[in-house]
Amino acid sequence: MLILAIETSCDETAMAVLECSGGLRRPQFEILAETVSSQIPIHRPFGGVVPNLAKREHIKNLPVVLEKIYSSMCDRKYFSKIDLIAVTVGPGLEPALWTGINFAEELGKKMGIPVVGANHLEGHIYSNWLPDIHKIEFPAICLIVSGGHTILLLMKSLTKWEILGETRDDAVGEAFDKVAKMLGLPYPGGPEVERLANQFAKRSILSNPPAGGVSKDLIFFPRPMIYEKNYEFSFSGLKTAVLYYLRDQKFNLNKAKKLMKLKILVCASFQKAAIDVLVKKTMRAVEEFEAKSVLLCGGVACNKALQKYLRAGSRKLKAGFFVPDKKFNTDNAVMIAVAAYLSPNKYKIEAQGNLCF
Ligand code: KG4
Ligand code: ZN
Repeated sequence: MLILAIETSCDETAMAVLECSGGLRRPQFEILAETVSSQIPIHRPFGGVVPNLAKREHIKNLPVVLEKIYSSMCDRKYFSKIDLIAVTVGPGLEPALWTGINFAEELGKKMGIPVVGANHLEGHIYSNWLPDIHKIEFPAICLIVSGGHTILLLMKSLTKWEILGETRDDAVGEAFDKVAKMLGLPYPGGPEVERLANQFAKRSILSNPPAGGVSKDLIFFPRPMIYEKNYEFSFSGLKTAVLYYLRDQKFNLNKAKKLMKLKILVCASFQKAAIDVLVKKTMRAVEEFEAKSVLLCGGVACNKALQKYLRAGSRKLKAGFFVPDKKFNTDNAVMIAVAAYLSPNKYKIEAQGNLCF
């Protein structure tokens, strides 16, 4: 089955064509074409994504991206063989979602092929099956960490899962972005915070802090809900603790350039606090449900320190650890095609900003 996928849920206009085969028993995916047009430079001056700007850019980018896909497919005859269009219907920014949906429906009519709705979070989950990992054993614990979500799932099979817990307030990616903003770092903040946190590791005399422990050089920020016997998360308290710390230090954004050492220390300390909570809760779920695999996905899954601690924790509990390639963790359309192929759910073709599963 050839699937053309369209993703416009946030600030990336993405399209991909995948050949999907093997069904649920042995799914295989060949990427025939893929492209992502990022709007990050457009939203950066505003310190975050502006929904109506995103909509305007998607409208502008969609025909250009389609042309790129069309011309990058080596054998153009392939294009006319596409069976299905999959488009993200949620969760995401409604004005942005509608642009993709309207474009998909118009294209579907022109090409005379059906259009199906796909779930962005399922896209993140199923990105773990790219290109074709068959080592993932069930039950699996899946941690979705993005700019909008922090969810822990128990997966009993490729199509059966239940939510164990999610964040009660900010998503972890949102907390990374907000801390970055407090420090005068550009949007998106996650990669910037990680970059500075890495510098702490290099500068610190304790360059190799003991796994699971906190280096005495770090500021001790709270780890909200870490000892609560549930799988819920909360990151707004951690973010506020960083804010109060900076206020107590009389941190001045206008002089931020001169305060590099402080920024490095705050980034490393915040990142470690956030990771400790994510790792602790994930590992507790692995133990409780005797999981054989741990899956990490979503934009924050790009964070190498998070990967490192989850990998070490999984190894200790004899569970396999899986994380997609960087380009499949941040928003893309390849994962949307995979979700449309594997998902057990049918989604209405209308923008659903708060859609979960
Ligand atoms: O999945 P994604 O691309 O978009 C959403 O669906 O939200 O995730 C974007 C989020 C942003 O908050 C960004 O700061 C965060 O992922 N992120 C990171 C890293 N790379 C991206 N957070 C921490 N460390 C990173 N290396
Ligand atoms: Zn995403």
